[in-house]
Amino acid sequence: MFRIARKNVLNFNTVEYEIEAPLVAKSCRGGQFVILRVDENGERIPLTIADYDRARGTVTVIVQTIGATTYKLSQKGEGEYICDLVGPLGNPTDLGDCENAILVGGGIGSAVIYPQTAEMKKLGKKVTVIVGAKTKELLIHEDDFRARSDEFIIMTDDGSYGEKGFVTDALKKLLDRGGYDCVFAVGPLPMMRAVCALTEGYGVKTIVSMNSIMVDGTGMCGGCRLTVGGKTKYACVDGPEFDGHLVDFNEAINRSKIYREQEAEHYCRLKGESVKL
Ligand SMILES: Cc1cc2nc3c(=O)[nH]c(=O)nc-3n(C[C@H](O)[C@H](O)[C@H](O)COP(=O)(O)OP(=O)(O)OC[C@H]3O[C@@H](n4cnc5c(N)ncnc54)[C@H](O)[C@@H]3O)c2cc1C
Ligand code: FES
Repeated sequence: MFRIARKNVLNFNTVEYEIEAPLVAKSCRGGQFVILRVDENGERIPLTIADYDRARGTVTVIVQTIGATTYKLSQKGEGEYICDLVGPLGNPTDLGDCENAILVGGGIGSAVIYPQTAEMKKLGKKVTVIVGAKTKELLIHEDDFRARSDEFIIMTDDGSYGEKGFVTDALKKLLDRGGYDCVFAVGPLPMMRAVCALTEGYGVKTIVSMNSIMVDGTGMCGGCRLTVGGKTKYACVDGPEFDGHLVDFNEAINRSKIYREQEAEHYCRLKGESVKL
């Protein structure tokens, strides 16, 4: 059992949890993820490690409540327990040779670029952050992003805050200005595809984090299969980060829709019942 040491509601559908998991905290690094189950009948869901504290033995995850399992998790309070948590899984982010990077986070993707922003700053590198959200209420950790980055740009679809438009609008302006040696983009698949299409034209290296459907997280089930550079890769063990210019996004988008019908009903085939939200 893993205790929720701290719960912090960031907005109406996003919650940050600091969970006691000393063995994971001891060895994890930015870009890696955990898989957790809320209770013993629960589904396994992957979540990025947004932060960790080796001394306290905790890992932090930032979770958007979008379906049955994330809803069940959102019902847990501080001091309560979740059933399982395994990690660290996947490979750490490698922005080692980037000196002047643009980090792009769309929606909950900003949870993934959040630790990388601090990491880049700690290494004395230049970091520009673009965060995109549908509306102002969905932005998270604005003050921390501002403090950790050299330049911080907010884009909202509805223009309720920052500039109106998509992250690619801001990214294009920066690329036209020049001087950047890499882009790290995390968000919905269509957003990452659009970012890669743009950066390819400028010849700027682009890393993306692939949020494929995962089950075991250890390379055995094939659920997270992708095609990268014409080769089959598994996001859980080969990724989750890949050279975005080599990813077959159309295939990834089609695969991500496989369970849409069941997810809409929150229906569990094992138990033969729907989860009420
Ligand atoms: C490596 C990785 C890191 C992630 N990090 C975060 C994070 O930091 N914060 C966050 O809020 N979300 C993160 N996600 C997405 C998160 O796993 C899904 O939101 C969650 O599984 C949804 O489960 P649900 O039962 O609440 O929703 P459902 O209604 O079951 O699904 C809603 C959507 O979530 C995705 N999803 C569902 N099940 C899985 C699964 N087993 N594996 C991957 N995606 C799934 C699908 O796109 C689906 O359409 C990450 C996914 C991956 C692969
Ligand atoms: S999650 Fe099973 S192979 Fe990656």
